[in-house]
Amino acid sequence: MMIEDTTRPCSRGRGPGLVLIGYRGTGKSTVGRILAGRLGRIFLDCDLEIEARANRSIREIFAELGEPAFRDWEERTLAELTAGSPATVLATGGGAILRESNRRRLRDFGFVAWLTARPSVLACRLEADQRGLAERPALTSAGTLEEIVQVLRMRTPLYEGLADVAIETEEKSPDQVADSILDRWNSRA
Ligand code: S3P
Repeated sequence: MMIEDTTRPCSRGRGPGLVLIGYRGTGKSTVGRILAGRLGRIFLDCDLEIEARANRSIREIFAELGEPAFRDWEERTLAELTAGSPATVLATGGGAILRESNRRRLRDFGFVAWLTARPSVLACRLEADQRGLAERPALTSAGTLEEIVQVLRMRTPLYEGLADVAIETEEKSPDQVADSILDRWNSRA
């Protein structure tokens, strides 16, 4: 695939960054690493950056400090990672779109790709990931599938409103998802 001048801003007033948003289990980190490798860019995973700064796992932050404190860490970390509009590839946590300030920063940072899959597919992926199951804090007490349905009902308009492109991931390998993102990115206005 031909890759164009990827450091030019994607539209007026927006930076050269490439950011992945979407629910847990959509493959943001895996695809982000592939994209960064192909583009020769630095890859940043917001969750890992939060853990490094807080010196705790995400699960520990939720358990010891609660979700609002986690969201504060997330907001501060996103502000740092996007400051100065670096030409990086950034994978965000599934709830990074909840705060308006984060959405504004991510939009200014650059091109926003939203990775999607149906709740039933996400539930299968999350349940197959034993390590993730142990490490991932529950967001509700509803159980995996019902939690995804409930949380996505609330988040979908936020993902939709922020995204430059929605990429359906169900029938695609991570490499194919990366191809689709680059195609759409390269053909942006
Ligand atoms: C969350 C998703 C997680 C992590 C935290 C909260 C969410 O990131 O930020 O557990 O609210 O959806 P991933 O989407 O990378 O799993």
